[in-house]
Amino acid sequence: MTLTGKKVCFITGACGAVGSEIALSIAGQGYTIFFTWHSSEEKAEQTLEKIRWISPESQMIRCDVSKSGDISNAFSVFLQQFDRLDLLVTSASNFFSTPLPDVTEQEWDSLVNTNLKGTFFTMQEAARIMQKQPFVSRIISMTDISADLVWRNFAPYTVAKSGIQHLTRVFAKTFAPTILVNSIAPGTVTVNPEKDMETQQEMVKKIPLRRLGDPLDIIRTIIFLLESDYITGQIINVDGGRLLQ
Ligand SMILES: NC(=O)c1ccc[n+]([C@@H]2O[C@H](COP(=O)([O-])OP(=O)(O)OC[C@H]3O[C@@H](n4cnc5c(N)ncnc54)[C@H](OP(=O)(O)O)[C@@H]3O)[C@@H](O)[C@H]2O)c1
Repeated sequence: MTLTGKKVCFITGACGAVGSEIALSIAGQGYTIFFTWHSSEEKAEQTLEKIRWISPESQMIRCDVSKSGDISNAFSVFLQQFDRLDLLVTSASNFFSTPLPDVTEQEWDSLVNTNLKGTFFTMQEAARIMQKQPFVSRIISMTDISADLVWRNFAPYTVAKSGIQHLTRVFAKTFAPTILVNSIAPGTVTVNPEKDMETQQEMVKKIPLRRLGDPLDIIRTIIFLLESDYITGQIINVDGGRLLQ
């Protein structure tokens, strides 16, 4: 099947709390969606159903982004179904606490391979397709403002997100002017449900704009980037001013 004429978006991690909202809103912008899921099959089915209400030709595939072979396979399947790639969003991520003295090799590999290696090989596969196309396409990577903070219990995660920010700049320079590559770094959008109200209020006190983020804040930034032709290699912090503190 080919879909010449309609824009196509490849998005990883589209079953996530924010990722699923991003995928739906991009479908609402007129894109056909090809998304990856990893372990949440039921959530993936539900997400695909919602997306297909807006964009019926959309597809999904299981893919462990920590394995480059899975990523290659996902792009092979993608190319059998679609003849263009307008937008890549790398949203797949894992996140858990790793107190510095106790970090294991397994934890390091899991966090760095999913967040950094996975993003690199996904962006590389997408760029190979995009650079041959006779029109401008876009890559948006999802990072985290924690890349610019010093969180003692999250070193492998934050170093991986920091690495994605650097990759964003390298890809932007390498593939200009054909591919615009930018990164969105959210502050806290979703809160671990185990955190009590008092802890959440303490988090809000650190944010100059006095509220946590909302998926809509991220979606508005993505739409802004989709409409921009003169921005590349940028990291956009969407954090209510949290990094100003
Ligand atoms: N939510 C926030 O407050 C926040 C704050 C800062 C930055 N961010 C960043 O924004 C992005 C979206 O966040 P989110 O809230 O949607 O995250 P999320 O709810 O944790 O979802 C993460 C997604 O990544 C997928 N994933 C995990 N390991 C994977 C693997 N090995 N291979 C492929 N997919 C894998 C999961 O798929 P399965 O469920 O199918 O396993 C899930 O769809 C992420 O990059 C995150 O780091 C979010």
